[in-house]
Amino acid sequence: MMLRTDGLVAGYVPEVDILGGVDVELREGEIVTIVGPNGAGKSTLLKAVFGLLKPRAGTIVLRGESIGGSRTHDISRAGVSYVPQLGNVFPSLTVEENLELGALARKDVDVGEREEAMYAMFPRLAERRRQPAGTMSGGERQMVAMARALMPSPEILLLDEPSAGLSPEFVEVIFAKVAEINGHGVTVLMVEQNARRALAMSNRGYVLDLGRNRFEGPGRALLDDPRVAELYLGGGVRPPQAG
Ligand SMILES: Nc1ncnc2c1ncn2[C@@H]1O[C@H](COP(=O)(O)OP(=O)(O)OP(=O)(O)O)[C@@H](O)[C@H]1O
Ligand SMILES: [Mg+2]
Repeated sequence: MMLRTDGLVAGYVPEVDILGGVDVELREGEIVTIVGPNGAGKSTLLKAVFGLLKPRAGTIVLRGESIGGSRTHDISRAGVSYVPQLGNVFPSLTVEENLELGALARKDVDVGEREEAMYAMFPRLAERRRQPAGTMSGGERQMVAMARALMPSPEILLLDEPSAGLSPEFVEVIFAKVAEINGHGVTVLMVEQNARRALAMSNRGYVLDLGRNRFEGPGRALLDDPRVAELYLGGGVRPPQAG
């Protein structure tokens, strides 16, 4: 087991719990997707795992060690990277500078070597390395954010809505990149609104609603579960029948 939360409770405002006891597991090499309605607590879960929010109860265990309440910096050193849903690049900085910031606090990372690895993985960024990130398209910015998170060679990548707001063409490019990153041995925990597409490529998935687990299982099984499809995937498993 790489990462596991057990009964995780967290929130922002005193006495208001957004996560009401969430259990998720991430095994080595997996892609796991969290889906659920707006406000379900999906982003809150990733923030809590990355140490941006202190758990009020429950545990977060990374490779056998408790990280609940640890600082983000220490969680990052332990091999976890995070791409937030919003504000995930520095717009006035160039692509290159954004990537370098991804490894800033890490003396153990060969920045030049990692940058070249990132340009190999995202050739589009190589051509634009001196361009300010804020002048790039949404899909390109998402690539910058992902590359920045990959700079320290994480074992686990937390992705919050990587395909949000992108054109259908770029959605495919980003999902292909997620698969490629996973193929390089990075375990992925992602949140996605593009639930069908994401679950189809996931080993396992979880449906969160109102800060609690609702359904979980292999990605395909969730897609084929009529209750999940009806409640959370916008309609039934099959198109409505005539008559
Ligand atoms: N910084 C904050 N301060 C107070 N409440 C917050 C904060 N961030 C989120 N919330 C609240 O926590 C709840 C869950 O938010 P969260 O962002 O985790 O949902 P989500 O499942 O990621 O939704 P979406 O699909 O819209 O991204 C919401 O009711 C939201 O208003
Ligand atoms: Mg969110």
